[in-house]
Amino acid sequence: MPQSPIRKLVPFAEQAVKNGKSIYYLNIGQPDIKTPKIALQAVKDSKIDTLAYSRSEGSEIYRQKISDYYKKHDIDVSHEDIIVTTGGSEALLFAFGSVMDVEDEVIIPEPFYANYNGFSIASGVKVVPIISKIEDNFALPPIEEFEKLITPKTKAILICNPGNPTGYLYSKQEIQKLAAIVKKHDLFLLADEVYREFVYDGNTHYSIMQEEGLEDYAIMIDSVSKRYSMCGARIGCLVSKNKDVIQTALKFAQARLSPPTLAQIASEAALETPQSYFDAVIDEYVERRNTLITELQKIEGVKVAKPKGAFYCIAELPIKNSDHFAQWLLEDFELNGETIMVAPAGGFYSTPGAGLNQIRIAYVLKKESLIKAVNILKEALKVYKD
Ligand SMILES: Cc1ncc(COP(=O)(O)O)c(C=O)c1O
Repeated sequence: MPQSPIRKLVPFAEQAVKNGKSIYYLNIGQPDIKTPKIALQAVKDSKIDTLAYSRSEGSEIYRQKISDYYKKHDIDVSHEDIIVTTGGSEALLFAFGSVMDVEDEVIIPEPFYANYNGFSIASGVKVVPIISKIEDNFALPPIEEFEKLITPKTKAILICNPGNPTGYLYSKQEIQKLAAIVKKHDLFLLADEVYREFVYDGNTHYSIMQEEGLEDYAIMIDSVSKRYSMCGARIGCLVSKNKDVIQTALKFAQARLSPPTLAQIASEAALETPQSYFDAVIDEYVERRNTLITELQKIEGVKVAKPKGAFYCIAELPIKNSDHFAQWLLEDFELNGETIMVAPAGGFYSTPGAGLNQIRIAYVLKKESLIKAVNILKEALKVYKD
């Protein structure tokens, strides 16, 4: 199993704090946004005497309410098409296990969410990367490039939309291109849509579940973690209109018994969150993104693609090895007692050596902190020697 590039520097950060440094944490997608009160209150108000298992596929009422939520997003699914999971993470594992055997292959545009590497290894599946480039703002690589990679072992294409770590938002046309390939080659299209709400600049999100004719091929991964800033609830879901996929995923769900009961109560209540909550959150992220990108662009030698969604960006730095740089920032650098923690981007690629001069930044901190953090990066780059 690979280490998580997002978490592997934690011991160095802990040591830096022990040594008296303050750290701006830009490495992890843990938003500082408050969880909707309604969700927390529902747990406090629950009159449970016995904290029992729920059904393996998740509580029926919760699944019905999720399908209502999807209908509001133009996604027509019923509760029978949904399996509630312990986070989007478990939904990804169930999806991999359900559609692939050991040694099968999944094509993923890279850079990608680092744990896809871990889930693939845990499932015995091989990731076949297809590079999307910072110069192209991480747009979908040409279809011919996908077709070159398809072998008899290829079972699926996995995308993350909007993307972590790139912030890229796939257009309807791009989804339609992918739909054409998966239909032609009889593959599954897996889409991790956990950042669906986090779409900026008036763009709209187009889900694979909205694409007609893709019903048998599409598997969507979702989560409450980011939507309601409820990462600790550990609730997500797997959604597909393909009955065989759902029946197979259900066997995985039965093997782990059930998703967490209290967290389903919180997640069900969270569905009542008013649109005004999201409007405020989106405004906040847009401001943070604009601040971060503007500040990064002021640093000589730094290249960055403007994210259209989610809350991450990849920045290319004038360095050779971001693993070393990220550790050095924690161990050997400070500016007035402060430093930053970033995620080296190598772990977001599976092509050896790719992304070594890049870092991923999560803009989950307030604007003022982001300005200070980028200033620290700027000063650090002036003195860092590869
Ligand atoms: C793209 C993406 N997918 C899935 C997950 C997993 O989320 P969770 O298991 O908390 O639902 C994350 C978490 O950061 C993510 O960024």
